[in-house]
Formats: sequence, structure tokens, C-alpha cells
Amino acid sequence: MKKIRIAVLCSGGGTNLQAILDAEAEGRIPDGEVVLVVSDSREAYAVERAKKRGVPTAIFAKREMPRAERERAMLEALHESEVDLVVLAGFMTVLSFGFVKAYEGRIVNIHPALLPSFGGVGMYGIHVHEAVLAAGVKVTGATVHYVTEVCDGGPIIAQKAVEVREDDTPETLQQRVMREAEWVIYPAAIQKVCKKLQGE
Ligand code: GAR
Repeated sequence: MKKIRIAVLCSGGGTNLQAILDAEAEGRIPDGEVVLVVSDSREAYAVERAKKRGVPTAIFAKREMPRAERERAMLEALHESEVDLVVLAGFMTVLSFGFVKAYEGRIVNIHPALLPSFGGVGMYGIHVHEAVLAAGVKVTGATVHYVTEVCDGGPIIAQKAVEVREDDTPETLQQRVMREAEWVIYPAAIQKVCKKLQGE
């Protein structure tokens, strides 16, 4: 069976990308291979992580191109690399309807909370954990979902709950959500989606 060709889109540190690359190297994503890492920032450490593993990279910097042009260039790069599945890993740009349509049912995202709580426009990165602490909830977590035109609203693929502690700061909570949930469920969910796409 042909492996599903994966592009990972990042904007920052890339710890989820690292978890995916490690899982692939350890044989935990047997039905997929990361063939391209795309960044919308030249400063993203994710690009270094990809280079260290010999994965091709492409940068379409937010600061240098308007969104329409950037998305056109990204789609061209994805087509050139014959990408089957687009994985958003800390990608901090909301994709347009046209982009989502071009890869309908083939874009997944990880969100650092239990959707549908603490999602939507403006809820990204550390802001999510700040909102969780402000609300006083005792349980948070992470969600892997398909990307649709509704921000953080697509069908859920996997979730894992994480305890919120009395003495948590947004930063300690973010670290625990990543370690206990994100880095665990994302590679497993990607393998599940690859298996499903192989059957289509
Ligand atoms: C992760 O916590 C990810 O869930 C979140 O940004 C962080 C990126 O970290 N994504 C979002 O908030 C998307 N709305 P990473 O670059 O180290 O993977």
C-alpha cells in the first residue's frame, strides 16, 4: 500500500512537528511519510527541526506576501510534492475557504483545549491556556480535528483530557497539555487518518 504523503505546516517552535517526526522514525506512522514542512515565518524553529531530519522545507513568510498570494504559493508547493494530507502543527494562520476546499477532508489540526470549549478566532497558543485558567475549569486537554471553513469547528478525531492544577500558570499548563496530550495523540491520530485515506 502506498504511503500517504504528508505536509506539516508550522509557524513556531515545532514541538508537535518533532513528535510527528519522532513517531515516524520509530515506526508509529507506518502508513504515512512527512515529505514537506511549510512555515509562514522565517524565524520558526520548526524549519531547523525539519532540516535536521533531512525533510524538505518551504517558507512563505506572512510578512512578505499577502494571504491570497501566500496560499496560492503554498498550494503549488503541496501539489509539486504530491501531498495527500496537510497537518497543521502550531500553524497560526486561519486558512481561507478556497484553501480548505482544495484539500477537503485532508487537513487536520491540533488545538490545545477540549473543543468545542476554548476554540475559535483569537484562541491560539498561550491565549487558550490563559482563558482556561481565567474560567477556572479543572480539566483541559487537546483535540485533533479535521479542518473545515469553521475555525476550530471541524469533526473531532481524537481528544485527551489533562488536569488543571491550583498553582498552574499559562506556561506550566501549556507544557503539561503538550507533554501529556498533544505529543501523544497527534501522531496516533495522523496514523489513523493515513489508514483511512489509503482505503479511499
Ligand atoms: C501547540 O500547543 C498547538 O496546539 C497550538 O500552538 C502550539 C504550537 O506549538 N496550536 C494552536 O493554538 C492552533 N490554534 P509547537 O509549535 O511547539 O507545536
